[in-house]
Amino acid sequence: MTGKHIILGVSGGIAAYKIATLVRLLIKAGTEVQVVMTPNAKEFITPLTLSTLSRKPVISEFFTRNTGEWHSHVDLGLWADVMVVAPATASTIGKMAHGIADNMLITTYLSAKCPVFVAPAMDLDMMAHPSTTANIALLRSYGCHIIEPATGELASHLVGKGRMEEPENIVKALQDFFATRADLAGKKVLITAGPTHEKIDPVRFIGNYSSGKMGYALAQEAADRGAQVTLVSGPVALSIKHPNVNVVNVESATEMLNACTEHFADSDIAIMCAAVADYAPEECAESKIKREKSKAPTLKLKKNPDIAATLGKNKKRGQILAGFALETDNEIVNATDKIRRKNLDFIVLNSLRDPGAGFRTDTNKITILDAIGKVYPYPLKPKSGVANDIINYIVNIRRIK
Ligand code: C5P
Repeated sequence: MTGKHIILGVSGGIAAYKIATLVRLLIKAGTEVQVVMTPNAKEFITPLTLSTLSRKPVISEFFTRNTGEWHSHVDLGLWADVMVVAPATASTIGKMAHGIADNMLITTYLSAKCPVFVAPAMDLDMMAHPSTTANIALLRSYGCHIIEPATGELASHLVGKGRMEEPENIVKALQDFFATRADLAGKKVLITAGPTHEKIDPVRFIGNYSSGKMGYALAQEAADRGAQVTLVSGPVALSIKHPNVNVVNVESATEMLNACTEHFADSDIAIMCAAVADYAPEECAESKIKREKSKAPTLKLKKNPDIAATLGKNKKRGQILAGFALETDNEIVNATDKIRRKNLDFIVLNSLRDPGAGFRTDTNKITILDAIGKVYPYPLKPKSGVANDIINYIVNIRRIK
């Protein structure tokens, strides 16, 4: 990380006492650190401590009162290679999520063009509150990397989730990030995500529970590592803003197929993460189907195109095509069969039997199966960590291919 510019945003939680260690470790790793503190953070650790360790005056006000010197959050935002907010209190996370720019840390965050890491730290009940969960989800949707808090004893003496990750691990997360950052530079990646909606009539559709979280996490990870990503997304409640990600919104399997065929020839890697509906109504009624008193209507279905298999047929040497399989039984046998039928290089298997895996969750537990029958199991992780594992796997097979 030598020479990297790091903005370290410190907010007012008891874990701020650990930031002295974090600054020391970052300086030892050869980085330049600019500490930005919220007014409350200064109640927990003195600016003098952090400016001495970082070898730079700490910034916490918009300007220095005695000299009238203005601190430009815009310049700071441009200077940084990365911004780390640690500890990130519930209040700071909420302000970051909603753009409440009432201190230097938040204005700097809103101006920052660089990747942003957030290390939450708070008591277990604050951590578990739906508003915190929703705000963290918003930060993820803006592209922030969440350094998950650990579970353990908290300042309140209660035991639970909310301890800021240890400074050594925060440094490790940054080192990993910089080490892998450019390994997909110049590569084009096509990703499908979310469900498809197959219209029955103007107000109804056949759909499924896919949230799109896994596909969006993959798009974020590939883009962070330098790839140009085309994300073909079914209808989801997520958004992604990244200069390397081009989102193509589609609704039905046929629209998804058309978008994928348009982009596949030009792609180095394609990851089929969408939960595509297998069947669509044979016809979409032009007006809303009325409720009949006597009998229920029968829906006639037709088979949807298999997007992964269609791309598999057109796959050229050097292209990597990956699929997902969500199985309820005979997982390995069924998934292996899909690799062959769809001409995939590998498949990511998640089993509905594993708690925390599959649809709508923020975590996933995957097993990767390759075309020659090798099986790679992974532990339960946040979907961002799973995306990291999948992209690492792809980078490794690209080295061999
Ligand atoms: O055959 P099955 O639906 O279980 O296969 C799942 C894999 O195939 C996923 O990668 C999914 O995105 C892809 N798929 C597809 N088009 C379909 C059905 C599935 O691309 N119509």
